[in-house]
Amino acid sequence: MSAFITFEGPDGSGKSTICNLVYEELLKNNKKTIKTREPGGTRISEKIRDLILDKDLREMDMRTEALLYSASRAQHTYEKIIPALEEGAIVLCERYVLSSLAYQGYARGQDLDDILSINNFATGKLKPDVVFIFRSSGVTLHRKDESSYDRLEREPDEFHKKVRDYYNNLGKEDNYYFIDVNKSIEEVFCDCMKVLKERMIV
Ligand code: TYD
Repeated sequence: MSAFITFEGPDGSGKSTICNLVYEELLKNNKKTIKTREPGGTRISEKIRDLILDKDLREMDMRTEALLYSASRAQHTYEKIIPALEEGAIVLCERYVLSSLAYQGYARGQDLDDILSINNFATGKLKPDVVFIFRSSGVTLHRKDESSYDRLEREPDEFHKKVRDYYNNLGKEDNYYFIDVNKSIEEVFCDCMKVLKERMIV
């Protein structure tokens, strides 16, 4: 059975680590699974990613930024995600539409309905079956040398706090699963697997 599963949360909240562990586990269980990420996931989307995250492009307007994230997402959705789902695969994706609502919408102060509408166009309203929302109480960035920070990571702490607040204050929707990441990696991994079992994906 195909399933579209996304991992959402602030920078440095452990999405990649957990997504990798879930991926390994699904492969062990002989599930046809692909792992991908945003912005990126296809040749064109990775080129758009390089443009968006280029730390020298400081003059990028926030509307341009929002459109580039959604352009990258459109290519990724139609070239990779939908075909994989049609072949019956489980698709694990680091970040999706909710990231644009958190970063380009709430943290940048742009209208959330505008951000949603360009994303609805980009994705054909494809809705994930499961959205893992990683929630943490502390600032989670500062995990690497600041000189290697990309354009978004260079935003002030206030911006990253807003992103965290957005995720922490989201109300429950049928496909949202809130994951407390102030725990060990093993516990967070187990919490995610429990959801996938409940939803009969594994
Ligand atoms: P990502 O590769 O997930 O970074 P990290 O591994 O540090 O979490 O994403 C790169 C940056 O892009 C990250 O700062 C979050 C940001 N982003 C948005 O602002 N909007 C989006 O729609 C997406 C997908 C990412």
